[in-house]
Amino acid sequence: MQSSSYGKAVVLVGFMGAGKTSVGQELAKRLGWRFVDLDEQIQQREGRTIAEIFRDAGEPAFRHLETEALRALLEQAADLSGVVAALGGGAFTQQENTALLKAARYPSVFLDAPVVELRRRCEADGSVRPLFQDENQFRQLYEVRRNAYMKADFRVETAGKTVAQVAAEVSTLLGWDNRG
Ligand code: S3P
Repeated sequence: MQSSSYGKAVVLVGFMGAGKTSVGQELAKRLGWRFVDLDEQIQQREGRTIAEIFRDAGEPAFRHLETEALRALLEQAADLSGVVAALGGGAFTQQENTALLKAARYPSVFLDAPVVELRRRCEADGSVRPLFQDENQFRQLYEVRRNAYMKADFRVETAGKTVAQVAAEVSTLLGWDNRG
């Protein structure tokens, strides 16, 4: 699909540690668009952290809140002049969410990296992630989800690249690079 046939928003997807938030912030700055982090939206809407939602209500309840937050985000995006959205690691693996994204006609970009690198980044950034568990579980979950991520419109390999390089690559890929 040509970039001109997409709406003026882009959705970054991928596993924990993919760099969705950091690349998203950089890309938004580059394009002069608004950055929205879906996990942040969920936390604001709920008045509690993701960890608290998992602890108090469990993963299925979190997934429901995630879908509702995505629906709201996509509705808002239609009224804004440009949005870069970072989705949590599980969001793009839920069929309901991919259907919402498809209907909204916003391009999705899978930020990929080897699982060892993803784990290293999660350890380094220190964020609390309820599904960041032992090495085997982390790897298994990545393997189960990878097919879903591969259904994104684009895939960008992030290993060995800076956040700025990945943001530039996404921007060029979508034909939205106004910085040459
Ligand atoms: C999740 C990833 C997290 C967050 C939640 C669930 C997942 O987001 O949405 O803890 O299912 O992989 P990040 O990918 O930003 O860490």
